[in-house]
Amino acid sequence: MRDTVASTESRSLSKSYGSHFAVVDHYARAAQRRLSNFSVMNVLRTFPQFIPCSEGSYKARAKLTVDAINQTLPLLSDLAAYVGRPPAPVMEIADFPANDEQRQAASALKERLDAQGSDKSSHHSYHHLYGAILADRQAIRSVIEIGIGTHHSDTVSYMVRGEAGGSLRAFRDFLPFAQIYGADIDRRVLFQEERIQTFFVDQTDPATFEQLAGSVAGECDLIIDDGLHSPHANIQTLIFGLKKVRLGGWVVVEDIGHEALPVWQVVNALLPARYQSYIVHEQHALLFAVKRLE
Ligand SMILES: C[S@@+](CC[C@H](N)C(=O)[O-])C[C@H]1O[C@@H](n2cnc3c(N)ncnc32)[C@H](O)[C@@H]1O
Repeated sequence: MRDTVASTESRSLSKSYGSHFAVVDHYARAAQRRLSNFSVMNVLRTFPQFIPCSEGSYKARAKLTVDAINQTLPLLSDLAAYVGRPPAPVMEIADFPANDEQRQAASALKERLDAQGSDKSSHHSYHHLYGAILADRQAIRSVIEIGIGTHHSDTVSYMVRGEAGGSLRAFRDFLPFAQIYGADIDRRVLFQEERIQTFFVDQTDPATFEQLAGSVAGECDLIIDDGLHSPHANIQTLIFGLKKVRLGGWVVVEDIGHEALPVWQVVNALLPARYQSYIVHEQHALLFAVKRLE
């Protein structure tokens, strides 16, 4: 479709410039470049779950479909609140540490994250949350992080700053008795080091989570999603994490766009009372943090 539109544009340019082929070529290439930034799609066929089941013009029904995509999750979030599910509390990340021990742990963790080249505490300020969760350093036995970090730009969610594997090494350095597990879709970044093991996972494929669950023995203190950063991948990871987290342990989803808040209020509404969730506000993103209470 894109090629057809581009060549039509190029043909009409060709008419107006007559034999000036070099000029035509220049404009045709510019048109191609402009069009390569767009997808041409039939909205009604692409989003069947959201189309109105009613007659009408394509234009009117396509607009209603886009409205439905944008409004369904916010309305589900309102519905959950109406039927009495309390929304997850929204907390500023710096308020997460509740005492001096947790605040000191946050600064000590920041030092390790910065030293290992992770952006979790330089660009972001996630050390406040992880410092609070991991303050009892000697007691933590295992952490899983989905998303090791890759610089290969052919992978969606590749790193624009920081060192690949930096966060895994920082958690290893911070937690003296913990085994650290990483998982990633990019097999080129998998590595093994002292107290670090990594595995392949594709967050959009539940079968690969089953393999990962088999590779990591027992329950974990903390499971982090810092991978693809797309809601369906996040929810797949949450399903894995909620099964794998120990009593008193946490599952944290990082780097949620501020506009996606309703998605996470709906997820909160679906969780049973044995999980307490928080929406954590940070300068560049939201995080969804869940603690297993029972
Ligand atoms: C932002 S990087 C992780 C950075 C690292 N956790 C850190 O703090 O330094 C995101 C990673 O997610 C991985 N990723 C992208 N899509 C994925 C998927 N479908 N399943 C698993 N990992 C994925 C990328 O390969 C990349 O390594």
